[in-house]
Amino acid sequence: MYGVKMKGIGKAIPEFKLSNHDLAEFIDTSDEWIQTRTGISSRHISTGETTTDLAVLAGQSALIDGDIEPEEIDLVIVATVTPDSTMPSTACAAAKRMGIKKATCFDLSAACSGFIFASEIAVSFIRQGNYKKALVIGAEVFSKVLNWEDRSTCVLFADGAGAAVYTRSEQDQILNIVTASDGEGSDLITLPVLTKSNRFNPNEVSEAYMYMDGREVYKFATTEVPKNILDVLEGTNYAANDIDWFILHQANARIMDSIAKKLQVDKEKFFKNMDSHGNTSAASIPMALADVKEQFKPGDKIILSGFGAGLTWGSIFMIW
Ligand code: ACO
Repeated sequence: MYGVKMKGIGKAIPEFKLSNHDLAEFIDTSDEWIQTRTGISSRHISTGETTTDLAVLAGQSALIDGDIEPEEIDLVIVATVTPDSTMPSTACAAAKRMGIKKATCFDLSAACSGFIFASEIAVSFIRQGNYKKALVIGAEVFSKVLNWEDRSTCVLFADGAGAAVYTRSEQDQILNIVTASDGEGSDLITLPVLTKSNRFNPNEVSEAYMYMDGREVYKFATTEVPKNILDVLEGTNYAANDIDWFILHQANARIMDSIAKKLQVDKEKFFKNMDSHGNTSAASIPMALADVKEQFKPGDKIILSGFGAGLTWGSIFMIW
């Protein structure tokens, strides 16, 4: 078994910034409602940037940050639920543009837990010796699947990409990973796939927007995530209060505060950037890592935690 280290982190966002005030000009909402319920005040929205464009920019910035050449990468996983196409995978299309020529590339669908699930696969593969350097990217253009007349979702979600490189290493930085799913909650957050070409099927899906039962998802996140964080710490000789940084999926500031309270941990240890980025689903954790990494000190204890559609959830415990 090999040790694994995160070496190189990057992010990319579309240029166009959309504020809560801008949203209030075309739907019945207000800056006050969005800020107090979610902690979001603005987000970046694509005016043409594709999921692959953002994945490439985030991936390249992670490679530069880690001082890694594209040819060294032998595994690329893109976590996304908003790919540009289902064939080819975003991973294959992005790898080509990054100059990654000899890697195994595939996409992974686990919504807002996507980066954690993809990281678990990459870390396990490197541990077993199958690969040496894996590029894991979370990339989303949620704006293309939002119903811009549905104020319960269009004020929350946004576009962006984040990426991290995991490498084989003498020092093992990843102490534990615990992921889980519960298909019983599969109706709570949905995004159908458009189907319009089977002449024999009268029931094809001609309109496909994302839907979310926010209240139920809120209950799920504030119940399961604290338990999952305790699970990932179990057997490691560390308690929640020993952790220096909690880097959670950036869905909602109130969810984070509630999780901090349940764990009896200072909420200031929960990094937040949803204020200026909104909920970017699979991209949010690596984007948050890119924003906070300069503040990490060697030996800092870090929990990464994602939760979302499926339902899916999971955490990684690592030491910087
Ligand atoms: N502006 C103004 N009012 C609104 C808006 C809006 N944008 N959206 C909803 N409202 C209204 C509702 O109509 C409702 O009005 P009513 O009481 O007259 O019926 C009222 O505000 C309260 O609505 P709730 O849905 O109960 O609001 P809540 O306090 O639950 O906040 C929110 C909603 C922010 C979505 C919250 O439930 C939440 O954060 N849920 C979790 C979302 C999440 O974490 N998702 C992560 C996974 S996403 C993924 O995997 C892709």
